Amino acid sequence: MLKKSTVFALSFSALYSITAIAQDQPSSGKYNHFYSSSPQDQKRVSDIVQNMSLEEKIGQMTLVNMATIKKESIPGNWDAIEKYHIGAILADGDEMPETGKPNLPDWQTQMQAIGSHNVTLANNNKIHIRLLLGTDAVHGDQHVANAVIFPHNIGLGATHDPELVKQIATWTAYDIKHSGFNWVYAPTVAVVHDYRWGRTYESFGSDPSWIKRFAEAYILGAQNSDDEKHQLRGVLTSTKHFIGDGNTDDGVDEGNVTVNDEAQFIKENYAGYEGAFSAGTGNVMISYSSINGTPMSVNKEYLKKYLFAEDDLVPRFNGFTVSDYTAITKAVYARHQVFHETLADAVNAGLDMIMVSQYDIEKASEDPALPDHSSNLSAFQAALKFDHDLPDGTPYKITEQRINEAVTHILQVKLAMGLLDSSQATLTPPEGNEDEVALKAAEESLVLLKNSTKEHQPVIPLTPEIKHIVLLGKVDDIGILCGGWNINWQGHEGNQYHTDDKASSILTGIKRIAPPGTEIIRELDTMKQLDLSKYTAKNTVVIALINEPPYAEFMGDIDNNNFNYNFAINSNLPPVEPGSLIMNFDDQPLGIIKSFKERNIPVITILVSGRPRIVNSSEDAPFNISDAFIAAWLPGTTGGEAIANAIFGKYRFGSNTANTLSVPWPKDMASIETGRLVCPSIRKIDDEQANAFYDCGYGLTT
Ligand code: BGC
Repeated sequence: MLKKSTVFALSFSALYSITAIAQDQPSSGKYNHFYSSSPQDQKRVSDIVQNMSLEEKIGQMTLVNMATIKKESIPGNWDAIEKYHIGAILADGDEMPETGKPNLPDWQTQMQAIGSHNVTLANNNKIHIRLLLGTDAVHGDQHVANAVIFPHNIGLGATHDPELVKQIATWTAYDIKHSGFNWVYAPTVAVVHDYRWGRTYESFGSDPSWIKRFAEAYILGAQNSDDEKHQLRGVLTSTKHFIGDGNTDDGVDEGNVTVNDEAQFIKENYAGYEGAFSAGTGNVMISYSSINGTPMSVNKEYLKKYLFAEDDLVPRFNGFTVSDYTAITKAVYARHQVFHETLADAVNAGLDMIMVSQYDIEKASEDPALPDHSSNLSAFQAALKFDHDLPDGTPYKITEQRINEAVTHILQVKLAMGLLDSSQATLTPPEGNEDEVALKAAEESLVLLKNSTKEHQPVIPLTPEIKHIVLLGKVDDIGILCGGWNINWQGHEGNQYHTDDKASSILTGIKRIAPPGTEIIRELDTMKQLDLSKYTAKNTVVIALINEPPYAEFMGDIDNNNFNYNFAINSNLPPVEPGSLIMNFDDQPLGIIKSFKERNIPVITILVSGRPRIVNSSEDAPFNISDAFIAAWLPGTTGGEAIANAIFGKYRFGSNTANTLSVPWPKDMASIETGRLVCPSIRKIDDEQANAFYDCGYGLTT
């Protein structure tokens, strides 16, 4: 048996033999997918690699944002792709088509222009390598106006419906392919441990066994691969962020995980990857976060043990790895190094492709040891090529052998995707109706936490006697229902990008379903002058919305007083305000709620948020003052219709396992601060005191 420590140093031809051994072992064969392809395919990739110059190989390892390619190209020409032999391009969170309009035709035109470029090898002009084109379609084709936006993962967790997640992934893959992309930066398989984390909503919850099932379902749906033919017919998935992103101390995004008990850490955070490997994810994105002070981007120990896991001679994962955006520069800051040092450590730790931003280019250009001090991509590529010995004689370099290995991993996936062939498979839409899938997901994701008046009468579903509906909060806003990663990195408020009839705000949803003649009252100022005498407990209901504004990544962190690497490089970002998860109504809506409550008129509160919030901190707190309370998460473009259907009883809460929490609901900040408010399956004895208000699996039915 090969020793773990020696396996990593094997040449890429030896790596094939590992694969071959693995293929002979049926019991472990479940992890072998199309990348462990046929001998002919392996030869094809190996011949290509042998024909490539160092520059061409480095180009394949370079994933760069669209803006950088644009900046270095003749306007409208995208010729920097050939100049730098680029292997992959991403549309980062705020990217727009050149027209400045995020419409589908504009994206299609732009992506067609970019995608028509490829790298032709100088040594053999018959070999063309097409581009990987990536997007963060974490809840649908998020860059495109009027695209269907599905609930964020935290809501999908509450559906407890992997088959539905598979359908969502299938539609997402279709949509992004239709827009011109072939690589989705999803699924996130983080296990959330602390809701102060700004990316809580990207997680399916805090039960690893469910996350494993969701990961598997998502990848099968999005990749739609045919293992026998070694083909990936959908889009490539990037399972992220390896590993521990949801388990950082105090929930700090990109922070450090203190691991005292490695086995427990793995038990809590690894299951999603098992699901992803068994479903054949072709790519894993490495986390910004650190483990015991070592950024994952350079964490050779964890990558070797838990990603490549050769100890049983079965590579669990045999796609390629990619760094996160600007991750090398962030690790440069964390480790007080210069650029080429951290980059070499990252590549030698097992990173096959580097996601490069302008920050990396600047950081590379500042490295005194490097030859290129321009602000061009060439400065970054010079670092990737860099090959020298440290002053003390230690070799500190990225060997060509390691580069060959990385490029082989990338090209094996490209081969399976058809990116080494000129013809593209035709795109056929999935069966069924996308809007129905989205509506079902939004409906099944709602969790009813409370549903009873003082007189023990259910409020939901509304009775036919209800003739007046008082609406409070931002009820006419689809942007807030979608949350972050929609058109903009941080998301947006309002309806300007969702003008399609199929998208609905809560107001539109209610108007569509309310019986004709129902009075809808919603202007706060009007309400102050209302004669309340005609409104009674029987004929009126108050529906109040309380919401988080959209946010993404570390910008959504709460109570984050810790140093965030981002601030070192993004000095123009506002500092994160210390805060808490406690949420209350503003004074004006609270006053109105109280005046209706005095008449015993029932109040339904809907919380639109990317995470559970503390809603019971005083007598007037949203949960306590309401008769019914719905956690709606970030339900997406069909969220308004779903909420209205659920309130009016067209949808009934509690079909199968749906409408139940995939995370415990917190009682107070103390329960959050333990960092141990997790589902029972990973609770330790001490965590029993974790103080959940409602535990995983909770949800009322109607
Ligand atoms: C995020 C990733 C994302 C990448 C590309 C990073 O900031 O951490 O999840 O895929 O940006 O947009």
